[in-house]
Amino acid sequence: MTDLHETVLAEATVSALVSNREGLYVDATFGRGGHSRRLLQVLGSSAQLLVIDRDQRAIAVAEALALRDRRVVVRQGSFSELGQWLTLSGWMGQVSGVLMDLGVSSPQLDAAERGFSFQADGPLDMRMDQDQAVSAQTVLAEMDEKSLAELFVTYGEERYARRIARALVEARKKEPLLRTLQVANLIARAHPSWERHKHPATRCFQALRLYVNRELEELQQVLPMAQNALCSGGRLAVISFHSLEDRIVKQFFRQGVAPVQDRHAMWNPQAQALRPVFSYVIKRMEPSAEEVQRNPRSRSAHLRVVERLAVG
Ligand SMILES: C[S@@+](CC[C@H](N)C(=O)[O-])C[C@H]1O[C@@H](n2cnc3c(N)ncnc32)[C@H](O)[C@@H]1O
Repeated sequence: MTDLHETVLAEATVSALVSNREGLYVDATFGRGGHSRRLLQVLGSSAQLLVIDRDQRAIAVAEALALRDRRVVVRQGSFSELGQWLTLSGWMGQVSGVLMDLGVSSPQLDAAERGFSFQADGPLDMRMDQDQAVSAQTVLAEMDEKSLAELFVTYGEERYARRIARALVEARKKEPLLRTLQVANLIARAHPSWERHKHPATRCFQALRLYVNRELEELQQVLPMAQNALCSGGRLAVISFHSLEDRIVKQFFRQGVAPVQDRHAMWNPQAQALRPVFSYVIKRMEPSAEEVQRNPRSRSAHLRVVERLAVG
């Protein structure tokens, strides 16, 4: 196992993001810094780059980078705190580019002790931020059967959610659920319809991970903050890895490019016509076949980039 993360769509993302080489930039998902390092190569000497991650190990790498490059500023925490940090530093409305490469990094996924993987045995953890109280273990120990089934449907789009939730609740009456493989095997046994090339626990593990880390809620909160952070001509680039997060990004960008009034406003003569706030730079891009071959984890990635239109 290595501590490396193979950066997805690195060139395309950085060249679409940078419109001003001396501007202020934010990498809201530092990971192992693949995008950040590429950005720093392109940016000029008076540019600044705020890097964020809520994972302690990612932050250790970011701090080492900041020691070598004085353009880098590091913040540990959730990217939903972006608005607060930018307001405090006077960057709000001044930022030339915000990047988000969503989800987990390879070092998080590959380290069995982090508990993200159904293929390697480890504790049921799944917390990106190790100081957070709620882990996958607490969810599986405490959530009632109905809520667990709802979680598997909402965050995993799992068809057999009720059956799986019942099996897990029955199993925990006999012994506590503590290990990833223990739960993966219980799910596999309860799952009546295995898809080809997909472990039967894939959807439920995704659901647990999204729930434990509040990933979709975080994304919904940060997008308007990122919009407000940008100066005119500033750009927002998001790489998503599954349909639930991509849908949120797509709808947010679409509403910014071609805003639609809600139904009630249409009948209200006082309602102001909505003005677009974004134009598309990249409506949707996927990695090339060559990149997918080199880095199979990139196969489900989608890059979307928008530009902020004149502010005010
Ligand atoms: C896919 S990795 C980023 C990889 C990075 N672009 C690179 O090339 O090395 C996603 C990172 O974002 C972090 N992350 C995910 N959601 C976050 C959130 N809401 N707030 C802060 N960090 C988050 C994860 O801890 C992880 O390190």
